[in-house]
Amino acid sequence: MMLKGLIFDLDGVLTDSATYHLQAWNELANRIGITLPPEANDALRGRSREDSLAVILAYGGQESRYTAEEKAAMAAAKNARYQELIKQMTPADILPGIVALLDAAQAAGLGLAIASASKNAPTILTQLGLMARFDGIVDPETLHRGKPDPEIFIQAAKTLGLAASEVMSFEDASAGVAAIKAAQQFAVGIGDAQVLAAADVVVPTTADLDFARLQQAFTAE
Ligand code: BG6
Ligand code: MG
Repeated sequence: MMLKGLIFDLDGVLTDSATYHLQAWNELANRIGITLPPEANDALRGRSREDSLAVILAYGGQESRYTAEEKAAMAAAKNARYQELIKQMTPADILPGIVALLDAAQAAGLGLAIASASKNAPTILTQLGLMARFDGIVDPETLHRGKPDPEIFIQAAKTLGLAASEVMSFEDASAGVAAIKAAQQFAVGIGDAQVLAAADVVVPTTADLDFARLQQAFTAE
């Protein structure tokens, strides 16, 4: 099969905004007396705002403590804090290796799409100066189920007019890698090899992404 498109998660892949999500959630969790365990670092990645709050409340054994209105207010407070944190982002915040990868893929005529669960993705992509690079962006408002459900990656391939077997998708979260594999796409994990073991290829950081080598791995699969 020929590689015809690349699909990217945003937070933690194109830029380190995953850290800001985690910081904003940590602040909220502390306010309601919950200390997040180390594994929250992966468990919260890729999850929608509502799913993330549910994960946090479960860590604190507070699943049924709050009304829907209170939960909506907490999610809104987290988002306001997150938006404050991402305000200063500029093209300098694009992670190492990403621009080179996008350049190589575009030179090879590949389609590029975004599969981010974040409603703030268009804002960040604009601040990074990357918006015009992408042929397709999935609107998370249209999704019925979040990662690890495959829906977002299936939709992303559709925006490119490509089959699952023609795309390669990039993720920093185990929920995201699970979503890619459930969509029957080739998965590149960026981060801890143990956490992302379900991916077809794992690299420690974005600086380790090499288009020629990824293409080779894809063809060998
Ligand atoms: C994902 C992040 O990309 O977007 C999650 O990895 C986040 O941490 C999710 O919860 C939803 O983002 P937002 O900006 O819509 O709250
Ligand atoms: Mg991510």
